[in-house]
Amino acid sequence: MNPQEVAMPVVGTSMPRKDALDKLRGVAKYIDDYSFSDILHIVTVRSQHAYGRLIKIDKSAAEKMPGVLGVITAEQVPGKNAVPLVFDDEPFLAEGYVRFHGEPVALVVAETLEQAQEAAGHVKVEIEPLKPVLGIREAIAPDAPRIYKDDNIFSRYNVCKGNAEEAMKKAVHIFEQEYETPYQEHAYLETNGVIAVPGLEDSMTVYGSMQCPFYVHDAVAAAAGIDRNKARVVQTTTGGGFGGKEDFPSVVAGQATIVAKLFNRPAKLIYKREEDIIASSKRHPGLIKMKVGTDERGKIVAALIDYYVDGGAYSTLTPIVLWRGTVHALGPYECEDIHVRSYGVATNKVPCGAYRGFGSPQVIFAGESMIDEIAVALKADPLEIRRLNGYKLGSKTATGQVLDQSCGLMETIDKARERSQWAAKWQAPADRKGNVRRGIGISSVYYGVGLGAGGKHLDRVGTSMTIMKDGSVHCAIGNVEMGQGARTVLAQIAADALGAPFDLVNVVETDTNMVPDSGPTVASRTTFMSGNSLMLAAAELRPRLLQVAADMLGASSTAEVELIDGQAFLIKDPKGKQIGFKELAAKLYAYRLMPSAFGWFIAPDSSYDKETGQGNAYFVYSYCTNIAEVEVDMETGEFKVIRITSAHDMGKAINPQQVEGQIEGGTLQGLGYATMEEIRHDANGRMLNNAFATYILPTTEDTPEIDPIIVEHPYDRGPYGAKGFGEVPLMGVAPAISNAIYNATGVRIRRLPIKPEKILGLED
Ligand code: MTE
Ligand code: MOS
Repeated sequence: MNPQEVAMPVVGTSMPRKDALDKLRGVAKYIDDYSFSDILHIVTVRSQHAYGRLIKIDKSAAEKMPGVLGVITAEQVPGKNAVPLVFDDEPFLAEGYVRFHGEPVALVVAETLEQAQEAAGHVKVEIEPLKPVLGIREAIAPDAPRIYKDDNIFSRYNVCKGNAEEAMKKAVHIFEQEYETPYQEHAYLETNGVIAVPGLEDSMTVYGSMQCPFYVHDAVAAAAGIDRNKARVVQTTTGGGFGGKEDFPSVVAGQATIVAKLFNRPAKLIYKREEDIIASSKRHPGLIKMKVGTDERGKIVAALIDYYVDGGAYSTLTPIVLWRGTVHALGPYECEDIHVRSYGVATNKVPCGAYRGFGSPQVIFAGESMIDEIAVALKADPLEIRRLNGYKLGSKTATGQVLDQSCGLMETIDKARERSQWAAKWQAPADRKGNVRRGIGISSVYYGVGLGAGGKHLDRVGTSMTIMKDGSVHCAIGNVEMGQGARTVLAQIAADALGAPFDLVNVVETDTNMVPDSGPTVASRTTFMSGNSLMLAAAELRPRLLQVAADMLGASSTAEVELIDGQAFLIKDPKGKQIGFKELAAKLYAYRLMPSAFGWFIAPDSSYDKETGQGNAYFVYSYCTNIAEVEVDMETGEFKVIRITSAHDMGKAINPQQVEGQIEGGTLQGLGYATMEEIRHDANGRMLNNAFATYILPTTEDTPEIDPIIVEHPYDRGPYGAKGFGEVPLMGVAPAISNAIYNATGVRIRRLPIKPEKILGLED
C-alpha cells in the first residue's frame, strides 16, 4: 500500500498517550497493588553458592513458625519442574544441584509476607560446594570443568559468505582486536511479580508484570500440569521490561502457580529489588575477537569475527540472543568475504537473557570501535569511512540479503552530521590540546525488525477488534504495553485503518483468553506485527461500516462513500451530510451485522541456511546513526557526555513524540552501558552489587543534551510504512561515546564500561 494514498489524520501525529493520565496521577495499578481474599504470600529461599550439590533441605524449623503453611521444594512441583523456553533446562526449583548464586531452592508459604520472610531464614539448605566456572575464557579453556554437556557451549552459529581467510591475504591493511562488554541490569522501576489465582475445574489465572504473556501461559500450564484452555494469563500495568521481562516472569509465574495449586488459594510472589537483581536475567557479557582487512582506502574486504557470550547457568534465551548478534556482527557494512562464528557459553552465574538490542550491542561496540580504529590508522574521517562502507539501497548483508527497499542509513549519517556540526567539530586527537578536551565520535547501526529467520515459527500475531454498540472500539492484541507506548501507537493505527476517531479506540492489556498465542513482545516487533494485524481486522469491519453509511447517505454503493476520522460522507459531496461514528455503530447493531473481526498477521518471509548462515535473515531493517560529544579532564580522567545526536530510520513515525521519548530513554540506557554499569562477583561467584546503591545507573544529572532525528524510508509491508525501532536508540550509544573519548584523548577503550581509571591507564 502506498502510504500517500491513504487517509491518516491520526497516524504521524503526536497523540497523547492513552495510559499517561493514570500513571501521572499514580492510580495505575501494578501487580503489588492487587489482592485477593485468602491470599498467600511467598518468599524464595536461594542458593548462597554459585555451584554445588544439593544435599539436604531441612524445612522442619521453618514449617513450625507462625503463619507458615509449608516450604515447597522441587519434588512437590505438581507439573513438570522445567521452565518452558528454548531448551527447557532451567528448573522452577533447584533439583540435585545449584548452578548460580541466588538460584531458587525453596518457596516459603505463609499467611503474611512478614511471616514468610521470618521463616525463610530458618530453612536450612545444605550444599556441597563445587568449583564454579565464572567467565567466558575460563569456560572455553581446554581443561575447564564441564558444567554443560562436554564443551560448556549451549549453542553456536556460523555466518559464512565468500572466503574470508583467502580475502584476508589480499587485504592491504589488517586490523585485529579483542573487545569486551559487561553485564547490564534492566533496572525497570517495577520489580518482577505475579499473583496466581486457582479457579474452578482445575483452572489457574495468573496476573502479573510481564512482556510475554504467552510464554508465561506455557509456564503456568507446565507448572500446574493443566491444559492450556484451563490456564489464563492477564498482563497488569507493567513498569518497564526492556527485555528483562521476556523470560523471567515464566519462572515467577510458574512458582506462584505451584503454590496456588498445592494450597488451592491465591498466591502472591513479588520480588524485592535485591533478589530481582541477583536472580533475574541480564544482558550477556560479551567477548568479541575481530580481524578486518581493508583496501588502501579503508573499504572492508574481509572480516573474521568470533563472538562469545556468557550465558550463565541455564540456556534460557541465549540461543536466540546469540543468533541476532551473529547476523549483525559486522554492523551495516558491505563485505563480500566474511566469516562469523559465535558461541553461547555456560558459566555458574545468573542466566542471561534479552536486553534492548538482544545480543547486538555487544558486537556493535566491537564493530563500531573497529571501524573507528581503521579510520584512525588510515587518517580518514570516521564518518566518511562509514559512508564508504555503509549499506545503501541494493547492498548485500553478511547473510547475502539484498536490501531492496527502505534503507535509510546514509540519510541518518547525513542528518546527524549536519545537526551535530560534525565538520566543524571533528579534529584528529593529536591536534587536541589542553587539560580539558572535547571529543566527538560516531556509530552506525542496523537492526533486523522482528524475530527473523531464527524465530520465524513464532512470528505471527492475533488481534480481535469489536465495535461496541456505543461506537467505542475494543481491540485485544497479542503484544503488550510496557512503557514503550504500544497501546497508543496501535490505537492510532486502528483508528485510521477503521476510520474511527482516536478517542473511541481502546487497546486493552493482553489477556491470553482473548487472542491466540502471538509470540513474545520483543525485537521491536509490536508496531509492525500488531499494527498489521489490526489493519487486517479493520479491513474486515470497514466494508460493513461503509455499507451502513451508504444506506444512511442514500448512496447506491459503498464506493460512493468515505469514512475518515469518525465521519462518513458522500465522496462527491465531502462538505455535505456527515454521519458520526457512534451513529454508524448503532445502525450496525440495528442491522445485526457482525461487529467483530479477527486479524492474524504472519511476518513476511525470512530464511536461513544452518550450515552457512546465508539467507534473508530478517524481512526488513531499521537504521540509526549516533554522534556523541564528550569533555574529558586529562588530569583526573573524569569525563562528561555533553550531547548525543541520534538519527533513526524507522520507516514511519506513527507518533513522533513517542519516537523521541524512545530515543531519549534508550540513549540514557546506552550511556549507562557505556560509562558506569557493571555487575561484580567475588572469587566464589557471589554477586557483590545487587542493589541500586551499588549498581550505578545514570540519572537525570548524567543526561546529556539529546537531539532526536526522525528519518522516514517507508517499508511497503509496514502499517503506514512503519518498521519498528524500540530497541535501536540504546544500541549504538556506547561506541559513539567511546569513539568520542578516543577523539578527545587518544585513549582507546576496548573493555566497557569507560571509567576515569581506564582513561588514565590505571586499569584495562
Ligand atoms: N520502552 C519503555 N518505556 N519500556 C520498555 O520496557 N522495552 C524496549 C523498547 N522500549 C521498553 C521500551 C524493548 S527491549 C523492546 S523489544 C521494545 O521497546 C518493544 O516494544 P515495541 O515492539 O513496541 O517496539
Ligand atoms: Mo526487547 S530486548 O527485544 O524485549
